[in-house]
Amino acid sequence: MLNLIKKIKIKIKKIINIKNKKILNLTYKKFLGKKGYFSNIIKLFNKLSNKEKPKIGKIINILKKKTIKLINEQNIYIAKKIKKKNKFIDISLPGNKYILYGNLHPITITINWIEKFFNELGFTTIRNLEIDNIYYNFDLLNINKNHPARSNKDTFWINKKNLLITQTSCIQIKYMKKNKPPIKVISIGNVFRKDYDKTHTPMFHQIEIFLVDYNINFCNLIYIIKNFLNTFFEKKIKTKIVTSYFPFTEPSAEIYIKNHKNNWIEIIGCGLIHPKILKNSNINSNLFSGLAFGIGVERLTMIKYKICNIKMLYENNIKWLNQF
Ligand code: DAH
Repeated sequence: MLNLIKKIKIKIKKIINIKNKKILNLTYKKFLGKKGYFSNIIKLFNKLSNKEKPKIGKIINILKKKTIKLINEQNIYIAKKIKKKNKFIDISLPGNKYILYGNLHPITITINWIEKFFNELGFTTIRNLEIDNIYYNFDLLNINKNHPARSNKDTFWINKKNLLITQTSCIQIKYMKKNKPPIKVISIGNVFRKDYDKTHTPMFHQIEIFLVDYNINFCNLIYIIKNFLNTFFEKKIKTKIVTSYFPFTEPSAEIYIKNHKNNWIEIIGCGLIHPKILKNSNINSNLFSGLAFGIGVERLTMIKYKICNIKMLYENNIKWLNQF
């Protein structure tokens, strides 16, 4: 491992000597491609002990960022040189000279992390549809006909029956109708609500986790959530559990944690799946019980990276995004 790190350190130094676009592209693949140095190093990294991982992980991250930075700088340098040389500009050529190599968006980083965490605990990933019908999003989830979320003011309707989903919970019944317990699902999706301010956008990401088996209780729910939060933030996180009401869970709760400004922020809605929902899914509620929770991805990301305004996540400012 240390040998490979040393080798990479030496090779990085040579990037500034590259004066040719093709060689630079090859170098990018050599370092950051699927079979590149960094992919190889991650394979070795996974075998390290938990004690060694944080220290070596930091070194690898710094090296990786440095590599991307150097390749990007060299890319600009070469592009400028070509521009100087070519007095005649062929405007029909594709405009790719200044395209820089990027990195994953913070939302994607969070989603990938959460997905991996729950996959390792045996949860199966399901991707949500963006358009679904009123039965799954509202009716079968026990949300009554006069609930304000159903109004045109809050929801984007496609027609009388179909809408842009307002919550990832709508996957629950669809999945439970087709599968028998034990059920362990993580569902990732975009959800849509007519909201727009410093902490809301009309589209945001939600992750729904649900589990149905014998003897599932509220302690199981809180244990999973606390464990998840402590691992995600890499420290023991203080949580506030507030009783709440969701028509599809009984009892229901909201989980709050503190952001970097020391304000309590709600990040998860949760509860034990309402027996009515199990019945709507043809699951015997006398035999089985279930837990469910919905995670707000933007909020978790904002707290983790100390982001104050949700709009930063959607402005596509490359300089800002390159920090992650
Ligand atoms: N769907 C809820 C929302 O969007 C969040 C939620 C609450 C999900 C309770 C759940 C749950 O699974 O059990 O506000």
